[in-house]
Amino acid sequence: MSERKKVTLSTLFKKKADGTLITMLTCYDYPTAPFQAEAGVDMVLVGDSLGMTMLGYDSTLPVTMDDMMRHAQAVRRGTPNAFLVGDMPYMTYQPSVESAIRNAGRFMAEASCDAIKLEGGAEMADRVAGVVAAGIPTMGHLGLTPQSVSALGGFRVQGRGALQARKIIDDARALEEAGTFAILLEMVPDRVCRIITERARDCVIIGRGSGPHADGQLLIYHDMFGLYPKFKPRMAKVYADAGQVILNGLKEYVDEVTGKTFPQPENWFGMKDEEYQELLGLLDED
Ligand code: KIV
Repeated sequence: MSERKKVTLSTLFKKKADGTLITMLTCYDYPTAPFQAEAGVDMVLVGDSLGMTMLGYDSTLPVTMDDMMRHAQAVRRGTPNAFLVGDMPYMTYQPSVESAIRNAGRFMAEASCDAIKLEGGAEMADRVAGVVAAGIPTMGHLGLTPQSVSALGGFRVQGRGALQARKIIDDARALEEAGTFAILLEMVPDRVCRIITERARDCVIIGRGSGPHADGQLLIYHDMFGLYPKFKPRMAKVYADAGQVILNGLKEYVDEVTGKTFPQPENWFGMKDEEYQELLGLLDED
């Protein structure tokens, strides 16, 4: 596989300035990471969505910093040059600025991330400012913020009404003023995303289910490849049904083993006749 030049903040801002759209995907494991690097994905998010896609929880809320470290370290080993963003799990930054700085620091020190992401608007501006002041690039996350799914009334579009849209636009401004280098807008109407993107000065806007006007797009890897059978969000595009391919392979394996057509000679290791005869002789002595 070819080695990609390190993606940095200046790479991202240059793309924004040039109007070249930025690609971002979630990634949670070592084997997937080099494929994303080879495909040229700019930003890789080790999302706390791994609680659902990798650990089988019903929400992201049970995910811990230790879970995130294990996965972020594995992804970094698989993609040394990606711009790697570590997602702050539930209650690792909400309690205080200090908790935010300490946990953000773990992503940088223990997993060699390039940045962290946290959810929330103006109410999180002091956490963002604290983490940024500690020298850690910080990405915001507005719209549908899964850690607040209960308060938001479920996984639904946010900002359809003018007042709610106004609040999201104000939150984006507050995050940018607090120092975020990027904001993820998840499931907000395309027109709201366009306003935020046009108004953003020093902040890259990445959209998920928020239309084509952002500076870049994010998809969840498992949605792209049919690897999360419990649920397929409407905004996700399935680029290849790898889940079905894997299931077909598994069924074939079960059929072949039970039907005695696997293994074949190329799948096992033999022994020379003379060694075998000698072995039988040795066993006869028993
Ligand atoms: O955890 C995650 O993968 C995220 C996505 C929902 C964007 O934050």
